[in-house]
Amino acid sequence: MSAGAAKRSLLYKALVYAATSLDNRTGLVSLLSLPLAAHRLRGIGSVEEAISFLFSDSIIAKLIEPMQIREEIEALARLVADTRPRVVVEIGTARGGTLFIWTRAAAPDATIVSIDLPGGLFGGGYPRLKAPLYRRLALPGQELHLLRGDSHSIETLQRLKEILQGRKIDFLFIDGDHRYEGVKRDYELYSPLVREGGIIAFHDIVPGPPEMVGGVPRFWRELKQRLPRGKYLEIVRDWGQGGYGIGVVFK
Ligand SMILES: C[S@@+](CC[C@H](N)C(=O)[O-])C[C@H]1O[C@@H](n2cnc3c(N)ncnc32)[C@H](O)[C@@H]1O
Repeated sequence: MSAGAAKRSLLYKALVYAATSLDNRTGLVSLLSLPLAAHRLRGIGSVEEAISFLFSDSIIAKLIEPMQIREEIEALARLVADTRPRVVVEIGTARGGTLFIWTRAAAPDATIVSIDLPGGLFGGGYPRLKAPLYRRLALPGQELHLLRGDSHSIETLQRLKEILQGRKIDFLFIDGDHRYEGVKRDYELYSPLVREGGIIAFHDIVPGPPEMVGGVPRFWRELKQRLPRGKYLEIVRDWGQGGYGIGVVFK
């Protein structure tokens, strides 16, 4: 790379960094770039394309960057896409990266619900101004609901039940409050809504910094001990990586 090109690339990276930092606090950049983002995202039809885009240098991708290891989320997304879920529930929207992946893995007429608590632990939620961008993540025939509230509250559970109208969840992704009691409560409250044969996945099952993984590794260890072989799967790039890793339960 020439010195000029290297300088331009460094400048671009600095600009993207500044824009995304501002956006994580205000959502303003997401709102201003909405027409451009909507146009770019509309052209992405498959899970594979979605993941390549999310892990690229595009500024739109940075606005919705997932907090994931590419190989791990790719393996989970492929597994989920094979089942073409019609009802998807995610706890932990954050920057919207995993939400975008679920829209492309789900059926074209799926109902997708993503729950996040403004200012919540382990990511901080997202500013209200980002919601229009997240709504644009859905495919035209899909219904996407953003619930801004505490996943542990009965009110949030009730709002979800009203949306589902008796339908069961095909795929549940638990990536919200990572404290031991937090992930346990999410599992206890939401797993009964998952259909027999449905999929439940947890993020951050690999031991790592407590501020990152909380009590998820302990919760996962205890849960898998109670499950028969073949009823769970671990998607982990490296058990020494410190955090990340995905645990999957086949209900
Ligand atoms: C690790 S982030 C989610 C990352 C996202 N799934 C991804 O991979 O891009 C965790 C999110 O959970 C949210 N959260 C924490 N506690 C919560 C709670 N009790 N109810 C709902 N959301 C919660 C945080 O606000 C944060 O945005």
